[in-house]
Amino acid sequence: MKEIIRQLEERRAVARLGGGERRIDAQHSKGKLTARERISLLLDEGSFEEFDMFVEHDCYDFGMEGQKVPGDGVVTGWGTVNGRPVYLFAKDFTVMGGSLSRNHAKKINKVQDMALKMGAPIIGLFDAGGARIQEGVDALGGYGEVFSRNVLASGVIPQISVIMGPCAGGDVYSPAMTDFIFMVKDTSYMFVTGPDVVKTVTNEEVTSEELGGASVHSTKSSVADGAFENDVVAMGQVRRLIDYLPSSNRSDVPERPFFDDQDRVEPSLDTLIPSNPNMPYDMKELVLKLIDEGDFFEIQESFAKNIITGFGRIEGRTVGFVANQPMTLAGVLDSDASRKAARFVRFCDCFDIPIVTLVDVPGFLPGTSQEYGGLIKHGAKLLYAYAEATVPKITVITRKAYGGAYVVMASTHLRGDVNYAWPTAEVAVMGAKGAVEIIHRKDINDEVRIAEHTAEYEDRFLNPFKAAERGYIDEVIMPHNTRPRIARALAVLRDKELENPWKKHDNIPL
Ligand code: HXC
Repeated sequence: MKEIIRQLEERRAVARLGGGERRIDAQHSKGKLTARERISLLLDEGSFEEFDMFVEHDCYDFGMEGQKVPGDGVVTGWGTVNGRPVYLFAKDFTVMGGSLSRNHAKKINKVQDMALKMGAPIIGLFDAGGARIQEGVDALGGYGEVFSRNVLASGVIPQISVIMGPCAGGDVYSPAMTDFIFMVKDTSYMFVTGPDVVKTVTNEEVTSEELGGASVHSTKSSVADGAFENDVVAMGQVRRLIDYLPSSNRSDVPERPFFDDQDRVEPSLDTLIPSNPNMPYDMKELVLKLIDEGDFFEIQESFAKNIITGFGRIEGRTVGFVANQPMTLAGVLDSDASRKAARFVRFCDCFDIPIVTLVDVPGFLPGTSQEYGGLIKHGAKLLYAYAEATVPKITVITRKAYGGAYVVMASTHLRGDVNYAWPTAEVAVMGAKGAVEIIHRKDINDEVRIAEHTAEYEDRFLNPFKAAERGYIDEVIMPHNTRPRIARALAVLRDKELENPWKKHDNIPL
């Protein structure tokens, strides 16, 4: 018996070494941790239960029979994050660059299937060069099996991908089908094919960082939802995110003790809106003052900054926030902002996370660049997402709510449940200048008449009362009372029941 136990320990030790000391050192010298080191930071101490540690590939081409490493380039299993179970797989770059073989795929499929059955989130840590070239179609098929499980799990369990090294091929397509992608600055890259192939095919010379670094994907392409300084910070932030998320679409949002005053009033909010309607102010200040302990997990912080998306808590329960940001492009809705917010709204709706929308939007951004880029379809995504969402939807208009953007931003007309406005709200088809120039075109050269028309328009429409008279705004509230009002609304909406008509699935404009 002792001998068997010794053999087991020996085999385990070999498996734990992955591609060997030399490659582990190389991994460390690049500023990266190994798969197992990452897992130990991600999970609660001692909670990791590993599966399939001794699985090997069964490829015999290209001399592969002599290159078997137990575990085959991926570490899989489950553990807990602050006591709640999660499933995970972590690519081991020290074993053939973390590339995916048929058996490596089967290991991932096993945890994907278990996560779905158990209703627990799945986290993938990627540091891998895609399909194992030596395996050919077996590796491609393996990716197909991973992808189809990604799709079936979408909307059922949260799927989170963290890119922690150079990733190509299937190791970027699988993350692309998950809910959130995070990258590590300076050490991670995502591309369909790397710089060498790019040079061969298009003659374009580009570095890995320029082609698919964390900055590219978190600011330009919007493929990534965030970028972190290093592996340690990344694992800590994923733990933080998990704390906000329900385990599946069958479980309630997590509720945790909060140390903030339930009825906290914020007198400073009464002066947040500048007296000049064209002056910006920081909408994030409002978000931070509404949520418990100012603890906000922002999604896509560096992309389309004219809209803010992220998770906070009110009275200990997770809430998704969508807010126009007047500090960037006056908070206008453009294609990027619409896509960003639409995806966030749909995530919240999948997992029954209530949505609070804070509105200060001068409209959709006009012009050829937006129209050629498909603003109509991108804007429609956000409209569609809000209209189909059945989760509790609470809206607060702080200042401008103009035109189509008024309707889109979770208005009562899109089944918004509670629609508040601050006394500074302006709900209208457009601003006074544009409106007067159109409806009083004949007076355009008469400054006095134009001033009269403008004053009349401002008096009639640039306030919340016309909308409140119609019942489109449920109540005009005091800014300092916004947190308690939202908290009460969320509490009463907790048992909201609303179902959409039966359908196979919808057909959102893509
Ligand atoms: C087998 C691979 C591999 C792969 C890397 N390695 N990628 N082995 N199959 N796909 C091995 C290397 O041979 C090397 O082995 C070790 O991993 C480390 O790789 P390096 O190239 O030395 O590392 P680095 O310079 O950091 O470059 C990493 C990389 C590069 C950018 C990932 O290796 C690369 O471009 N790999 C190929 C990427 C690719 O085109 N994959 C196929 C995608 S197709 P040793 O023994 O020296 O340590 C695909 C289809 C899926 O995935 C379907 C999509 C729809």
